[in-house]
Amino acid sequence: MPIVAPSILSADFGRLADEVRAVTDAGADWIHVDVMDGHFVPPITIGPLVVEAIRRATHLPLDVHLMIETPEKHVAEFVRAGANGVTIHVEADGDVHAGLAAIRAAGARPGLALNPPTPLARVQPFLGLIDLLLVMSVNPGWGGQPFVEGSMEKLTAARETRRAAGARFLIEVDGGIKTHNATEAAASGADVLVAGSAIFESPDYPATIRALRG
Ligand code: DX5
Ligand code: ZN
Repeated sequence: MPIVAPSILSADFGRLADEVRAVTDAGADWIHVDVMDGHFVPPITIGPLVVEAIRRATHLPLDVHLMIETPEKHVAEFVRAGANGVTIHVEADGDVHAGLAAIRAAGARPGLALNPPTPLARVQPFLGLIDLLLVMSVNPGWGGQPFVEGSMEKLTAARETRRAAGARFLIEVDGGIKTHNATEAAASGADVLVAGSAIFESPDYPATIRALRG
């Protein structure tokens, strides 16, 4: 069964702690936290202070997705704030090796993300350093976008790449995951399903999380 990680980007930020408690009680496995800096992607979302607040609201692992430039300068701060896993983008300016090493040194699980147009070959040099590979199935920046065509095939290619490398990282998919395509995403290779609008715009969080799990 896939791990289900609600993305709080689509939660009601005025009631963020309640929303985090609600998805925790609804059976979520992880909480996915989208950090955007206005440079790597146009929007600005949240920083370590909000991660700290989320940390106080749940015992679940916090899966922090950094859509920011020079992530190596910031990763330790997010781990101190309570992140269990921190994912950086292979396309970000800065030093990917240093970023992944800093996450590990800070005591969290390093993850590496790639955008829909980025070929899997770009992450090849880092496969021995990561605990999670995040295959973006929308261009990052906003919740509620449609699933990008070809992402199922990319998940399968990622699984094959992992096998060929003899690696054990988890494969996560993020963007446009709904109850109608979750089962196919998991069958295609995703171990972790991120879902924002599918969960937070639904009237019944437990039922939606169950349906996503398949
Ligand atoms: C997009 C974020 C996603 C987003 C997913 O940049 O990384 O985590 O919240 O939202 P949905 O599930 O609505 O596509
Ligand atoms: Zn995300």
